[in-house]
Amino acid sequence: MLASMASCFNWLLARRFRRVTTILAGLILSIATIVLLVNNLGPAPTLPKGKPKTTSSGEEAISSGFPLCSDHKDPNVTYPVESWRAAAETKYGGHLDDKFTIAMSTFHRPKELHRTLTTLLSAKIPSLHEIVVIWNNFDEKEPDSFVSEYGVSVRYRKPTRDSLNEKLWPDPTYRTKAILLTDDDVFYRPEDLEFVFQMWRKFGKDRMTGALARCVSALPSGEWDYNFCSQREHEDVYSIVLTNLAFTHIAFLDYYFSDDPAVTKIRKYVDDAFNCEDIGLNFVASMLTGSGPLLVRGRHQYVNLDPAGGISRKPGHMEARSKCLNVFSEAFGCMPLVNETGRIEHGVKHNVWYKSLWDVIHG
Ligand SMILES: *[C@@H]1O[C@H](CO)[C@@H](O)[C@H](O)[C@H]1NC(C)=O
Ligand SMILES: *[C@@H]1O[C@H](CO)[C@@H](O)[C@H](O)[C@H]1NC(C)=O
Repeated sequence: MLASMASCFNWLLARRFRRVTTILAGLILSIATIVLLVNNLGPAPTLPKGKPKTTSSGEEAISSGFPLCSDHKDPNVTYPVESWRAAAETKYGGHLDDKFTIAMSTFHRPKELHRTLTTLLSAKIPSLHEIVVIWNNFDEKEPDSFVSEYGVSVRYRKPTRDSLNEKLWPDPTYRTKAILLTDDDVFYRPEDLEFVFQMWRKFGKDRMTGALARCVSALPSGEWDYNFCSQREHEDVYSIVLTNLAFTHIAFLDYYFSDDPAVTKIRKYVDDAFNCEDIGLNFVASMLTGSGPLLVRGRHQYVNLDPAGGISRKPGHMEARSKCLNVFSEAFGCMPLVNETGRIEHGVKHNVWYKSLWDVIHG
């Protein structure tokens, strides 16, 4: 009796709930329709007061302290992308093209490291060749290498010195062109990682290709400003992807460690400030190819185990990062970063609801 009462109650509740959701869905639908109608059938288009500034042209940037590299005609400042590709192929043509390596930095976070490694090794990721853990626990001996059940070799490398640049070192033992730079607390889910790598192969070789974007804007003072990205229309561009989850071509790492005076200055600054190696690598990639980065998302959001930790939460972080932009563009003599507007997602299901409503209204 009690049981049947309970189930009856459950049923009532479920029915009630269903009714509420139906009403809610109806309400949302009508609001959305009104919004769309007002947007599209509203007053005849008039020029908005205070026309939004153009974002993609160099117009604003020219007013800044350092002009865009793309404005330079000197071939020694911006190389045509073909010459970068040729140079990369000459040096790294023998590296595997259809496999990738993970270079993962760890710093005294055994719990996160264990969870991240376990997740990445728990499923077959067909193109994953090797995981190299950059062992920054200088007071501990690095663990022994091993081979996972799916045949991925896991190797620990203790850097010779405590430097953020070490993560970007083009280890001569790497066998693949693609290196996924990551930290111990952030990862793409295994089923998404293969997809992101395939997108790198198709579209990302000339770019930093990853999960987290950051934005750079020109201040009226002429300086560059680093920040999170705006969602607003006309401002939703990005020019950096962070190296806590990004694919890079090994040739970018190679150049980062070259004796080019600009990157030599950048590496030194990264050591002194203990920050900005990722910005430095984005500068190198955009300088060599004239391309901005590429944001790629799988079916799911990437996983971040510790969104509240790390140096990025220190006070003054944004100011320090902005300073890097200005120091680095001074080193290069111009600003190489390029604004990008598009990104790649897995599948066609996104925004289907919005799109079908749109189709209904516009026939
Ligand atoms: C580019 O660099 C090469 C060698 O470093 C030099 O010979 C050449 O004059 C430079 N070109 C320009 C346009 O500055
Ligand atoms: C990118 O766009 C921002 C505005 O959203 C602008 O301030 C900045 O100068 C642009 N950067 C480049 C490199 O063109």
